[in-house]
Amino acid sequence: MLEIRQVTRRFGTNTAVRDVALEIERGEMVGVIGRSGAGKSTLLRMINRLIDPSEGSIVFHGREVSALKGASLRRWQRDCAMIFQQFNLVPRLDVLTNVLLGRLNHRSTALSLMNMFTREERIRAITALERLDIAQTALQRAGTLSGGQQQRVAIARALMQEPKVILADEPIASLDPLNAKVVMDSLADINAREGITVITNLHTLDTARVYCTRIVGMARGAVVFDGPPEALTGEAVRMIYGGEEGVELSEAITSTSISVSPKPLKQSSGQSVPALAAV
Ligand SMILES: Nc1ncnc2c1ncn2[C@@H]1O[C@H](COP(=O)(O)OP(=O)(O)OP(=O)(O)O)[C@@H](O)[C@H]1O
Ligand SMILES: [Mg+2]
Repeated sequence: MLEIRQVTRRFGTNTAVRDVALEIERGEMVGVIGRSGAGKSTLLRMINRLIDPSEGSIVFHGREVSALKGASLRRWQRDCAMIFQQFNLVPRLDVLTNVLLGRLNHRSTALSLMNMFTREERIRAITALERLDIAQTALQRAGTLSGGQQQRVAIARALMQEPKVILADEPIASLDPLNAKVVMDSLADINAREGITVITNLHTLDTARVYCTRIVGMARGAVVFDGPPEALTGEAVRMIYGGEEGVELSEAITSTSISVSPKPLKQSSGQSVPALAAV
């Protein structure tokens, strides 16, 4: 279980995240929504320890993540894989190598420097690509792929980490609706089949409603809603998106949204993804 205990993060005089307390159980699929600047990315980055809280603590299965250093910090960053809006692949390397890079935290620096991946790791990487239906791109340079394909490579790379938690920061914000659906379907499938906890920031409410079992709404750094999609009333939506600047509500809610139901990805032929460690 992941516990976020009264976490605050300040940047100078600006409070990006304000006294946030959340308990997230293993296997939840959590959508974090809110206007631009609400603190969604800052919250995710603190969980992964890309940045540190100013106050409060983050605890995973009784261990204080916010106090980890050195090797144990690296282990935690392996356990919670991050997916970004801009994919963060190495464009000039081929897809297979990009996916194998997800193993780096599992191995010694010496082996990594020699770029030696084992046969088992290569099979695992191909299997992850098959699962995301992009094995045919394995030898292509990552930079030549479409945005939707690149995000699937990033998810395959995340799977190589054998994560316990996947943190996705607006994974579909740069994608067209069809590719957005494929990417969200794959995250939902990984969540359902491996029981990996997924916490994803989403720009659109509709996507969160369709895919997430729990929605966390943030406004001005604070959590103003936390509950299942059914509990998200018009009033709750106004609390999350409404504000002094008079945001165009309908636009915030529906732009680039996905209105179709999630459907599991096709099962890859042959070997299944080797037992991914659960929380
Ligand atoms: N590294 C930083 N230095 C200074 N201020 C920052 C930094 N990162 C975030 N902020 C500020 O913290 C606040 C929250 O930013 P954050 O990126 O978490 O919002 P967000 O909800 O992810 O927004 P968006 O939907 O635009 O991605 C903003 O006011 C932002 O300007
Ligand atoms: Mg953000």
